[in-house]
Amino acid sequence: MKSYKEVEQYVKSKLSEKRFYHSKCVEEKCIELAKIYNVDEEKAKLVGISHDIAKEMPKEEKIKFAQENNIEIDEIEAKSQGLMHAKIGAKICEIEFGFTKDMTNAIASHTTGKPHMDTLAKILYISDAISKDREFKDVETFHEIAIKNLDEAVLQMLNKSIEICIEEEKSIQLDTIKARNEYYSK
Ligand SMILES: [Fe+2]
Ligand SMILES: [Fe+2]
Repeated sequence: MKSYKEVEQYVKSKLSEKRFYHSKCVEEKCIELAKIYNVDEEKAKLVGISHDIAKEMPKEEKIKFAQENNIEIDEIEAKSQGLMHAKIGAKICEIEFGFTKDMTNAIASHTTGKPHMDTLAKILYISDAISKDREFKDVETFHEIAIKNLDEAVLQMLNKSIEICIEEEKSIQLDTIKARNEYYSK
């Protein structure tokens, strides 16, 4: 696996200053939560910095990359190209950095959530939503919940993202619904 410095440099070369700053903020939050929930801090740091690596890839390039690497893109992802960056980013991290399966799984599920997420994936999912560069009104409340009960924070964040999809008249990813039902029934 590539070192943190190498990964950071690669990520920096692929992202705008703003998105790179966001990635550093997510990395910081991932480390904070990894400490609390006894997750490998190095892995948390690496998935944090690299989770949005494909976010600024041009749409055509994303589609080409997905085809060449047998990445399944469903109808909703194809329409909203923002969603594609998670799966594509996971694959890039596997190829370029040699990330382990748990790390690429975490990156693949960071936008929508997924059923059966492990702790690393939950940490990334939440950190991406509540990193210090985020400015929605409940961010502090979510932070308080996340440091006490990660599953509860994930459930509330899934609910919130579903509400946003409804408000903004967007399709809801099936993975989000499945994940939400999994946590809801816990
Ligand atoms: Fe993202
Ligand atoms: Fe992000």
